[in-house]
Amino acid sequence: MKKKLTFLGIETSCDETAASIVQENDDGTANILSSVVSSQIKEHEKFGGVVPELAARAHVENIDFIINQAIKDSNFKLEMIDGVAATAGPGLVVCLSIGFNIGKSIAGFNRKPFIAVNHLEGHALSAGLEKKIEFPYLLLLISGGHSQFLIVNGVNDYKQLGTTIDDAVGEAFDKTAKILGLGYPGGPALEKFANDGKKDFFKLPQPIINKGGCNLSFAGLKTAVLRESKKLKGKLDLKKNLAASFQNTVNNILTKKTLVAMKQFKDFSKKKKSNFVIAGGVAANKTIRKNLEKIAIENGFDPMFPNPKFCGDNAAMIAWAGIKRFKLNLIDDLNFKVKSRWALDAKAPFMKGPGIKL
Ligand code: KG4
Ligand code: ZN
Repeated sequence: MKKKLTFLGIETSCDETAASIVQENDDGTANILSSVVSSQIKEHEKFGGVVPELAARAHVENIDFIINQAIKDSNFKLEMIDGVAATAGPGLVVCLSIGFNIGKSIAGFNRKPFIAVNHLEGHALSAGLEKKIEFPYLLLLISGGHSQFLIVNGVNDYKQLGTTIDDAVGEAFDKTAKILGLGYPGGPALEKFANDGKKDFFKLPQPIINKGGCNLSFAGLKTAVLRESKKLKGKLDLKKNLAASFQNTVNNILTKKTLVAMKQFKDFSKKKKSNFVIAGGVAANKTIRKNLEKIAIENGFDPMFPNPKFCGDNAAMIAWAGIKRFKLNLIDDLNFKVKSRWALDAKAPFMKGPGIKL
């Protein structure tokens, strides 16, 4: 019988300390033997955002326990694994280094192959944890640090169609939640709060909606929320309406830009039907899931979302990306260094700051 590939994955790029053991099934899907995620909400809540020094300290305090727990939960012996995959970027260098260096040590001591994983590739392949996907597919990656439309041609083969020129979608949710005093992390809190608000009550701007292809912009929307928030006079119903209107505007922007990205994808791929994958922390938002699912079906795509527990940061997606890269012989040297910036498509133009062309 063919031996099944089994990898240890480690993730510490931001405020989640995570480890996981993943095995590849014969049909090419994943068997997640364990997935342990320790969130640092308590550490950062009083500051309303991630404080790098505190995040790094919490990773140092937790990482060995989290890795041991993942190994224990999996009932798999560390000596039996086929390789170690750890997130090498993009992210906070002080945080990345902690999981990455432990990963390198484990691989080195156990003489196992080591894979340095791009966190964004982890998200990009995460829908494949539960269901086999065929390449190429259209990907919308929406997280706290990134918002991108990409064509996923295969493992290690990405073409960026569009990205945000300022804030990421998750960042816009977090900043809006902070303005409205909803706490941290903002995305889930805002979604809950917006539930019984009137989504058409406030007319908010949709920056670069008719230009810039499928590039995105959210900074102007957040500023408009700030302006409107000053006129609420403490009225709870108005505050709920503002949260709902913000979420609705994000949905309208994502709809319009998704249609542009779908057209670009169709011009590129002659496949009759392809998947539209929506991944990253914000893909857990129910209104966004419902909205993009509808757009996908109406436009001849098969929508695919990772299970909400694999939308946010986790190490199963890192182990999985590690397995996929290992199969292509993309094995890294133990001298590999973490990177704060690391685009999936190295040829894509940098779209932030003055002088960008839309
Ligand atoms: O992928 P992720 O866990 O970390 C990054 O790689 O950034 O994404 C975290 C982001 C945060 O901005 C968080 O507020 C947002 O995802 N998020 C949500 C929801 N759940 C998480 N945003 C909107 N609605 C949600 N339900
Ligand atoms: Zn992430």
